[in-house]
Amino acid sequence: MLASCLPPATMTVVGAKCRDFIKPLSGCEQPLIACSRLAVFYVPKEWYIGKMKKRLVIANWKMYIQSPEAAKGFVAGLKRKTKNINNVEVWIAPPFTVLPLLKGVKVGAQTVAAHAEGAYTGDVSATMVKHAGASFAIIGHSERRAFGLTNEQVHAQLAAAAGAGLVPVLCVGERERTQDGSHFSVIEEQLTSALRGAQSLSSKLVVAYEPVWAIGKSAAEAMQQEELQETVIFIRKILADILGRAGARKVRILYGGSVEGANAHPLITEGGVGGFLVGHASAELDSFVEILKACQK
Ligand code: PGA
Repeated sequence: MLASCLPPATMTVVGAKCRDFIKPLSGCEQPLIACSRLAVFYVPKEWYIGKMKKRLVIANWKMYIQSPEAAKGFVAGLKRKTKNINNVEVWIAPPFTVLPLLKGVKVGAQTVAAHAEGAYTGDVSATMVKHAGASFAIIGHSERRAFGLTNEQVHAQLAAAAGAGLVPVLCVGERERTQDGSHFSVIEEQLTSALRGAQSLSSKLVVAYEPVWAIGKSAAEAMQQEELQETVIFIRKILADILGRAGARKVRILYGGSVEGANAHPLITEGGVGGFLVGHASAELDSFVEILKACQK
Protein backbone atom coordinates (compact mmCIF):
# COMPACT_ATOMS: atom_id res chain seq x y z
CA MET A 1 0.00 0.00 0.00
CA LEU A 2 2.87 2.32 0.78
CA ALA A 3 4.93 1.32 -2.19
CA SER A 4 2.86 3.34 -4.57
CA CYS A 5 3.82 6.69 -3.08
CA LEU A 6 7.56 6.36 -3.68
CA PRO A 7 9.79 5.78 -6.67
CA PRO A 8 11.08 2.21 -6.10
CA ALA A 9 14.81 2.78 -5.97
CA THR A 10 14.54 5.74 -3.66
CA MET A 11 12.66 3.62 -1.19
CA THR A 12 15.39 1.06 -1.11
CA VAL A 13 18.19 3.55 -0.69
CA VAL A 14 16.55 5.60 2.02
CA GLY A 15 15.14 2.54 3.70
CA ALA A 16 18.47 0.79 3.75
CA LYS A 17 20.18 3.79 5.26
CA CYS A 18 17.49 4.36 7.84
CA ARG A 19 16.96 0.73 8.73
CA ASP A 20 19.06 0.62 11.86
CA PHE A 21 17.52 3.56 13.63
CA ILE A 22 13.92 3.51 12.48
CA LYS A 23 11.71 0.83 13.92
CA PRO A 24 9.65 -0.78 11.19
CA LEU A 25 5.92 -0.62 11.49
CA SER A 26 4.81 -3.54 13.57
CA GLY A 27 3.24 -6.12 11.34
CA CYS A 28 4.47 -4.32 8.25
CA GLU A 29 5.45 -6.78 5.60
CA GLN A 30 7.79 -4.42 3.86
CA PRO A 31 9.56 -2.51 6.60
CA LEU A 32 11.98 -0.80 4.23
CA ILE A 33 9.16 0.79 2.31
CA ALA A 34 7.37 1.80 5.46
CA CYS A 35 10.56 3.13 6.95
CA SER A 36 11.50 5.38 4.12
CA ARG A 37 8.34 7.43 3.72
CA LEU A 38 6.98 6.98 7.22
CA ALA A 39 10.29 7.64 8.90
CA VAL A 40 8.97 10.94 10.13
CA PHE A 41 6.46 9.17 12.31
CA TYR A 42 8.81 6.64 13.83
CA VAL A 43 11.91 8.64 14.50
CA PRO A 44 11.49 10.81 17.57
CA LYS A 45 11.34 14.39 16.32
CA GLU A 46 13.88 15.59 18.93
CA TRP A 47 16.35 13.14 17.47
CA TYR A 48 16.47 14.33 13.90
CA ILE A 49 15.78 17.97 14.63
CA GLY A 50 18.80 18.10 16.93
CA LYS A 51 19.48 19.91 20.15
CA MET A 52 19.72 23.59 19.29
CA LYS A 53 17.63 26.02 21.24
CA LYS A 54 17.30 28.84 18.74
CA ARG A 55 16.73 28.67 15.02
CA LEU A 56 19.59 29.94 12.93
CA VAL A 57 19.27 31.89 9.68
CA ILE A 58 22.41 32.68 7.71
CA ALA A 59 22.43 35.31 4.96
CA ASN A 60 24.69 34.35 2.08
CA TRP A 61 25.11 37.65 0.29
CA LYS A 62 27.19 36.11 -2.52
CA MET A 63 28.10 39.16 -4.71
CA TYR A 64 24.72 40.82 -4.29
CA ILE A 65 25.59 43.53 -1.77
CA GLN A 66 28.87 45.13 -2.74
CA SER A 67 29.37 48.62 -1.34
CA PRO A 68 30.20 49.46 2.28
CA GLU A 69 27.25 51.86 2.36
CA ALA A 70 24.75 49.25 1.19
CA ALA A 71 26.13 46.62 3.57
CA LYS A 72 26.14 48.88 6.61
CA GLY A 73 22.72 50.27 5.71
CA PHE A 74 21.33 46.74 5.50
CA VAL A 75 22.63 45.82 8.96
CA ALA A 76 21.27 49.03 10.48
CA GLY A 77 17.86 48.35 8.90
CA LEU A 78 17.96 44.74 10.03
CA LYS A 79 18.53 45.76 13.64
CA ARG A 80 15.67 48.23 13.46
CA LYS A 81 13.23 45.76 11.92
CA THR A 82 14.09 42.77 14.08
CA LYS A 83 13.96 44.38 17.51
CA ASN A 84 11.08 42.12 18.48
CA ILE A 85 12.51 38.94 17.02
CA ASN A 86 14.70 37.54 19.74
CA ASN A 87 14.56 33.79 19.41
CA VAL A 88 16.18 33.57 15.98
CA GLU A 89 19.93 33.83 15.49
CA VAL A 90 21.06 35.76 12.43
CA TRP A 91 24.50 35.42 10.87
CA ILE A 92 25.68 37.25 7.75
CA ALA A 93 28.22 36.04 5.18
CA PRO A 94 29.09 39.19 3.21
CA PRO A 95 31.79 39.53 0.55
CA PHE A 96 35.31 39.64 2.05
CA THR A 97 35.68 43.35 1.34
CA VAL A 98 32.86 44.48 3.62
CA LEU A 99 33.21 41.79 6.28
CA PRO A 100 35.35 43.87 8.68
CA LEU A 101 32.98 46.83 8.41
CA LEU A 102 29.89 45.15 9.82
CA LYS A 103 29.46 45.57 13.56
CA GLY A 104 26.93 44.24 16.04
CA VAL A 105 26.11 41.14 13.99
CA LYS A 106 27.83 37.79 13.65
CA VAL A 107 29.69 37.73 10.34
CA GLY A 108 31.49 35.00 8.44
CA ALA A 109 33.28 34.24 5.19
CA GLN A 110 31.70 32.72 2.09
CA THR A 111 34.75 30.50 1.68
CA VAL A 112 38.31 30.18 2.99
CA ALA A 113 41.54 28.87 1.52
CA ALA A 114 42.45 25.26 2.09
CA HIS A 115 45.98 26.28 3.09
CA ALA A 116 46.99 28.08 6.25
CA GLU A 117 49.48 30.45 4.58
CA GLY A 118 51.96 30.73 1.74
CA ALA A 119 52.15 31.50 -1.97
CA TYR A 120 48.45 31.36 -2.90
CA THR A 121 47.69 34.51 -4.85
CA GLY A 122 44.15 35.72 -4.37
CA ASP A 123 43.29 33.26 -1.62
CA VAL A 124 42.12 34.39 1.80
CA SER A 125 43.00 32.17 4.74
CA ALA A 126 40.78 31.24 7.66
CA THR A 127 43.11 33.12 9.99
CA MET A 128 42.85 36.25 7.85
CA VAL A 129 39.05 36.26 8.00
CA LYS A 130 39.17 35.51 11.71
CA HIS A 131 41.32 38.64 12.14
CA ALA A 132 38.79 40.56 10.04
CA GLY A 133 36.03 39.66 12.50
CA ALA A 134 34.57 36.42 11.11
CA SER A 135 33.31 33.77 13.47
CA PHE A 136 32.17 31.24 10.88
CA ALA A 137 32.89 30.23 7.29
CA ILE A 138 30.74 28.67 4.59
CA ILE A 139 32.59 25.65 3.27
CA GLY A 140 31.92 23.73 0.06
CA HIS A 141 29.14 25.89 -1.34
CA SER A 142 27.86 24.40 -4.59
CA GLU A 143 28.75 27.55 -6.52
CA ARG A 144 32.38 26.90 -5.55
CA ARG A 145 32.12 23.18 -6.17
CA ALA A 146 30.90 24.11 -9.67
CA PHE A 147 34.30 25.73 -10.28
CA GLY A 148 36.02 22.45 -9.52
CA LEU A 149 36.28 22.39 -5.72
CA THR A 150 36.71 18.71 -4.85
CA ASN A 151 35.54 16.81 -1.76
CA GLU A 152 39.21 16.55 -0.78
CA GLN A 153 39.62 20.34 -0.94
CA VAL A 154 36.38 20.82 0.99
CA HIS A 155 37.83 18.61 3.70
CA ALA A 156 41.01 20.72 3.79
CA GLN A 157 39.04 23.98 3.92
CA LEU A 158 36.86 22.67 6.73
CA ALA A 159 39.95 21.66 8.70
CA ALA A 160 41.52 25.08 8.04
CA ALA A 161 38.38 26.90 9.20
CA ALA A 162 38.00 24.80 12.33
CA GLY A 163 41.72 25.09 13.05
CA ALA A 164 41.44 28.89 13.00
CA GLY A 165 38.50 28.78 15.42
CA LEU A 166 35.76 29.44 12.87
CA VAL A 167 32.48 27.52 12.91
CA PRO A 168 32.33 25.64 9.59
CA VAL A 169 29.01 25.80 7.75
CA LEU A 170 29.43 22.76 5.54
CA CYS A 171 27.28 22.78 2.40
CA VAL A 172 26.19 19.49 0.88
CA GLY A 173 23.59 18.68 -1.74
CA GLU A 174 22.95 16.77 -4.91
CA ARG A 175 22.92 18.36 -8.36
CA GLU A 176 19.80 16.41 -9.27
CA ARG A 177 17.41 13.91 -7.75
CA THR A 178 17.55 10.59 -9.49
CA GLN A 179 15.07 7.75 -9.77
CA ASP A 180 17.68 5.26 -8.57
CA GLY A 181 18.24 7.26 -5.39
CA SER A 182 21.92 7.86 -6.12
CA HIS A 183 21.59 11.43 -4.85
CA PHE A 184 21.64 10.00 -1.32
CA SER A 185 25.07 8.55 -2.01
CA VAL A 186 26.26 11.95 -3.23
CA ILE A 187 25.21 13.53 0.07
CA GLU A 188 26.75 10.69 2.07
CA GLU A 189 30.04 10.97 0.20
CA GLN A 190 30.19 14.75 0.66
CA LEU A 191 29.56 14.44 4.41
CA THR A 192 31.89 11.52 4.98
CA SER A 193 34.81 13.00 3.11
CA ALA A 194 34.47 16.50 4.56
CA LEU A 195 34.10 15.32 8.15
CA ARG A 196 36.86 12.73 8.17
CA GLY A 197 38.64 13.12 11.52
CA ALA A 198 36.30 15.92 12.63
CA GLN A 199 34.65 14.03 15.51
CA SER A 200 35.44 16.71 18.06
CA LEU A 201 33.70 19.39 16.02
CA SER A 202 30.07 18.42 16.43
CA SER A 203 28.91 21.11 18.82
CA LYS A 204 30.52 23.73 16.55
CA LEU A 205 29.44 22.31 13.22
CA VAL A 206 26.61 23.55 11.00
CA VAL A 207 25.53 21.52 7.97
CA ALA A 208 23.60 23.32 5.24
CA TYR A 209 21.69 20.98 2.99
CA GLU A 210 21.39 22.76 -0.34
CA PRO A 211 20.07 20.72 -3.27
CA VAL A 212 21.77 22.42 -6.19
CA TRP A 213 18.71 22.10 -8.44
CA ALA A 214 16.72 24.27 -5.99
CA ILE A 215 19.21 27.13 -5.67
CA GLY A 216 18.59 30.56 -7.18
CA LYS A 217 15.02 29.91 -8.23
CA SER A 218 11.76 30.81 -6.51
CA ALA A 219 9.83 29.46 -3.54
CA ALA A 220 7.55 27.52 -5.90
CA GLU A 221 10.51 25.61 -7.32
CA ALA A 222 12.26 24.96 -3.99
CA MET A 223 12.23 21.63 -2.24
CA GLN A 224 8.99 20.68 -0.53
CA GLN A 225 8.91 20.13 3.21
CA GLU A 226 8.12 16.37 3.08
CA GLU A 227 11.09 15.66 0.85
CA LEU A 228 13.27 17.89 2.99
CA GLN A 229 12.31 16.13 6.19
CA GLU A 230 13.19 12.76 4.71
CA THR A 231 16.59 14.07 3.60
CA VAL A 232 17.28 15.66 6.99
CA ILE A 233 16.65 12.31 8.68
CA PHE A 234 19.07 10.73 6.24
CA ILE A 235 21.71 13.41 6.93
CA ARG A 236 21.31 13.02 10.69
CA LYS A 237 21.80 9.28 10.29
CA ILE A 238 25.01 9.75 8.32
CA LEU A 239 26.22 12.28 10.88
CA ALA A 240 25.53 9.71 13.60
CA ASP A 241 27.73 7.22 11.73
CA ILE A 242 30.55 9.76 11.54
CA LEU A 243 30.26 11.68 14.81
CA GLY A 244 28.40 9.26 17.03
CA ARG A 245 24.78 9.64 17.96
CA ALA A 246 25.29 12.20 20.71
CA GLY A 247 27.61 14.25 18.52
CA ALA A 248 25.20 14.14 15.59
CA ARG A 249 22.41 15.58 17.70
CA LYS A 250 24.46 18.69 18.40
CA VAL A 251 24.93 19.56 14.74
CA ARG A 252 22.61 22.20 13.36
CA ILE A 253 21.16 21.26 10.00
CA LEU A 254 19.94 24.10 7.80
CA TYR A 255 18.19 24.11 4.45
CA GLY A 256 19.19 26.37 1.56
CA GLY A 257 17.75 26.68 -1.94
CA SER A 258 15.21 29.39 -2.83
CA VAL A 259 14.01 30.07 0.68
CA GLU A 260 11.70 33.05 0.53
CA GLY A 261 8.95 34.53 2.69
CA ALA A 262 6.41 32.32 0.92
CA ASN A 263 7.95 28.92 1.80
CA ALA A 264 9.94 29.66 4.96
CA HIS A 265 7.15 28.74 7.37
CA PRO A 266 6.26 25.27 6.01
CA LEU A 267 9.92 24.41 5.54
CA ILE A 268 10.89 25.37 9.08
CA THR A 269 7.89 23.82 10.81
CA GLU A 270 7.66 20.60 8.79
CA GLY A 271 11.04 20.21 7.10
CA GLY A 272 12.96 19.05 10.18
CA VAL A 273 15.64 21.73 9.87
CA GLY A 274 16.95 24.14 12.48
CA GLY A 275 17.12 27.12 10.16
CA PHE A 276 18.13 28.32 6.72
CA LEU A 277 21.01 29.41 4.54
CA VAL A 278 19.44 32.11 2.41
CA GLY A 279 20.84 33.50 -0.84
CA HIS A 280 18.95 35.98 -3.02
CA ALA A 281 16.22 36.71 -0.47
CA SER A 282 18.87 37.63 2.12
CA ALA A 283 20.07 40.57 0.07
CA GLU A 284 16.70 42.30 0.15
CA LEU A 285 15.90 43.56 3.64
CA ASP A 286 12.13 43.09 3.72
CA SER A 287 12.29 39.60 2.21
CA PHE A 288 14.94 38.60 4.71
CA VAL A 289 12.94 39.95 7.65
CA GLU A 290 9.90 38.03 6.42
CA ILE A 291 11.93 34.81 6.59
CA LEU A 292 13.14 35.64 10.10
CA LYS A 293 9.57 36.25 11.22
CA ALA A 294 8.53 32.87 9.83
CA CYS A 295 11.28 31.26 11.93
CA GLN A 296 10.02 32.57 15.26
CA LYS A 297 8.86 29.76 17.50
P1 PGA B 1 19.21 31.01 -2.99
O1 PGA B 1 20.72 30.62 -2.63
O2 PGA B 1 18.50 31.28 -1.70
O3 PGA B 1 19.34 32.21 -3.86
O4 PGA B 1 18.63 29.83 -3.70
C1 PGA B 1 21.00 29.81 -1.54
C2 PGA B 1 22.48 29.56 -1.49
O5 PGA B 1 23.09 29.41 -2.57
O6 PGA B 1 23.09 29.51 -0.42
